[in-house]
Amino acid sequence: MKIKPVLVLLALGVPLAALFVADVARAEEDAAAVSKEQLALYDKGPSSIDVSAYPAGIQKNYAVFREKCTLCHTLARPINCEFVLPDEWSRYIKRMMHKPGSMISPGQAKKIYEFLAFDSSVRKKALFDERLSKAAAADKADAEARIKEIIDLYAQK
Ligand code: HEC
Repeated sequence: MKIKPVLVLLALGVPLAALFVADVARAEEDAAAVSKEQLALYDKGPSSIDVSAYPAGIQKNYAVFREKCTLCHTLARPINCEFVLPDEWSRYIKRMMHKPGSMISPGQAKKIYEFLAFDSSVRKKALFDERLSKAAAADKADAEARIKEIIDLYAQK
């Protein structure tokens, strides 16, 4: 029996194409840590933070955050997302810095990081504490040390 080349191509090509599509889909999913629906929910939440009780220097950093993190999406997105631990913030801000056209300098990124890490420990305290209670001992100690460092730094400013 002679097998038609077109059938061989189909037989091989279809599963390969399916694999390829699945891979692309997975890569896109990895790129966005959460779904589009979840992002839309964040975007619809409150779009400002009452920083009046925060240290003066942290209030200044809030202005940097507002200016730099609204270029591509709402400010509500980072305000309502579920990142809380300092390490999550430093990694995510780096990710946003590397997006084309983001124009965030390392100095600005540091201020935004200090603002968001401090803010999460206060405004999202319940979630922050829950995450800490589930974290490995070393990660918990790291998070607590980083928050203390920020508080100590801004107490003098
Ligand atoms: C150059 C465009 C750009 C800038 C500037 C930008 N973002 Fe984003 N941000 C995105 C895109 C695109 C997404 C959608 C998810 C992705 O691609 O990572 C996103 C998603 C997010 C999310 C949701 C992610 C999740 O998984 O929950 C947060 C939080 C966030 N950004 C925070 C920030 C912060 C904080 C800043 C300022 C330091 C910032 N973004 C600046 C483009 C940007």
